[in-house]
Amino acid sequence: MDYKDLIAANISRITGLDKDKAYGLIEIPPQLEMGDYAFPCFTLAKELRKAPPMIAADIVADPTLVSGALTAKNVGPYVNFFVDREVLAQEVLTEIISAGESYGTDDMGGGRNVIVEYSSPNIAKPFHVGHAFTTILGNSIANIYTKLGYNVIRFNHLGDYGTQFGKLITAYRLWGDEKAMEEDAISELTRIYVKFHDEAKKDPSLEDTARDNFRKLEEGSEEEVALWKRFRELSLAVFEKTYQRMGVKFDNYNGESFYSSRIPPVVDLLKDKGLLTPSEGAQVVMLEDEGLPPCIILKSDGTTIYASRDLAAAIYRHENYDFYKNIYVVGLPQQLHFKQVFAVLKKAGFEWADDCVHVGFGLLKFKDGSAFSTREGNIVLLDDLLNKTVEKTEEIIRKNAQDRGDDMSDAEIREIAEKVGIGAVIYTYLKSGREKDILFDWDDMLDFEGDTAPYLIYTYARIRSILRKAESQGLTASSGDALKILTEDEEYAVIRSLGDFKDSVRRAATSYEPFVVAKQVALIARNFNRFYNNSSILNADSEDVKKARLALCEAVCDTLKSGLGLLGIDVVEKM
Ligand code: ARG
Repeated sequence: MDYKDLIAANISRITGLDKDKAYGLIEIPPQLEMGDYAFPCFTLAKELRKAPPMIAADIVADPTLVSGALTAKNVGPYVNFFVDREVLAQEVLTEIISAGESYGTDDMGGGRNVIVEYSSPNIAKPFHVGHAFTTILGNSIANIYTKLGYNVIRFNHLGDYGTQFGKLITAYRLWGDEKAMEEDAISELTRIYVKFHDEAKKDPSLEDTARDNFRKLEEGSEEEVALWKRFRELSLAVFEKTYQRMGVKFDNYNGESFYSSRIPPVVDLLKDKGLLTPSEGAQVVMLEDEGLPPCIILKSDGTTIYASRDLAAAIYRHENYDFYKNIYVVGLPQQLHFKQVFAVLKKAGFEWADDCVHVGFGLLKFKDGSAFSTREGNIVLLDDLLNKTVEKTEEIIRKNAQDRGDDMSDAEIREIAEKVGIGAVIYTYLKSGREKDILFDWDDMLDFEGDTAPYLIYTYARIRSILRKAESQGLTASSGDALKILTEDEEYAVIRSLGDFKDSVRRAATSYEPFVVAKQVALIARNFNRFYNNSSILNADSEDVKKARLALCEAVCDTLKSGLGLLGIDVVEKM
């Protein structure tokens, strides 16, 4: 039973408040004594012209408010709801164990199309820690929407177009090293790109050659297109390695170049609607009524720009996917750009512009600024960050194994360290609200007792080991009515946090904030560890308690695996 949903429906029926609104207002009280859910009556006060405590009393007086396992009590301006512990234990654990790792799945999406655009690195440029943020955040948002029954299409809007390709073609012809390209395309392309700028200072005619080469590329000249294709393919192969390591996938790699050829009809459309205004030789759409600066559509030399490509892309996506939502996971510095693009679409008469969402995020900063000496100056590469984290994780896991007297093989340690290390990086990006800057520090993120992925994965592994031990003793988890035995405060706290997991997935989706799931997973782990530190499982007093607690263990494992999976983090069976 989804009690929160039931409560929202009943309150809506009794008060006339919109059900979704009621659902959104329901809180989870901070203390167990205050019940499982609380409905604050402040919002209704204005409409009903009554004091909140009176409204709360009226709601509770309605005989249709609660029935069965649900009871209610008004406390001041709140209606507090209580679910019978025995019933809750049985319902929640039964549901989780039958769903397994897919717990949290919902059909609210009804198969509607949701586009999530993320990662979108620039060809021939290094993949840095900022691109890691969009990659990790976007992947998680895509996972969450998938879990909720949406048909998610994952887009990688590659930065594969622009005047810099004229420079790269020029530079490659002059200084490109074929062998270096094969080995590490991005380093080689970065090297010649930097060299181009140094040389162009001495010989400005290089800029003309570059412009010329870009023009040829735009006109589809064979040799230039072939070079550009090669830069693109080799760069993508490098990115792909990182994606694989992170467990990230895409359905569509249409980059900016793809949309470039789709711009002329967009320009025609804007012209037809009378939206194009000449301004200093360029063509712009004025947006002052939206309080925004003009959006440049065509530059003075007639070439198109970033915003036009995004307009063409949005229209293409709508034509091909008739999306319910079109989500752009791109850093906050591009907020204005997206406001302009969405405003132009709206002006052009596309009502679906309201379904386009920019999901921004903050910056990654390092506590110890000197932690990195990188190959690329002051840019921190994701690969370097992952390598260093996995290395440190390996040391910790090796030491822990030694302390335990466990002789894990080197290969085993490395495999675990890779998963836990990458998980630690992912969790660091996702554990707080996305618009906050992240302060990166290895001691914090690898603290096995802190708010970290290692702590969560370790909790999972520890429970798995209990379950293996139980199996070897021939003990199996109980089910059905036998689960009603789990009513002690610490058991109940775990069960309640497990039951609230589904709601956390929905809230994460509507707010585009995977940290809501991260927080819930962390709460479950903390509640479980508190219970485990104070109670025995395999040494519990009675067989019935042992078996019921084993069911609790299974449900926690399933939920941790499901939740971490939504964040993009793998678990390990042992560590
Ligand atoms: N390639 C761009 C960058 O690295 C991000 C692209 C964002 N997506 C978009 N549809 N404009 O900054």
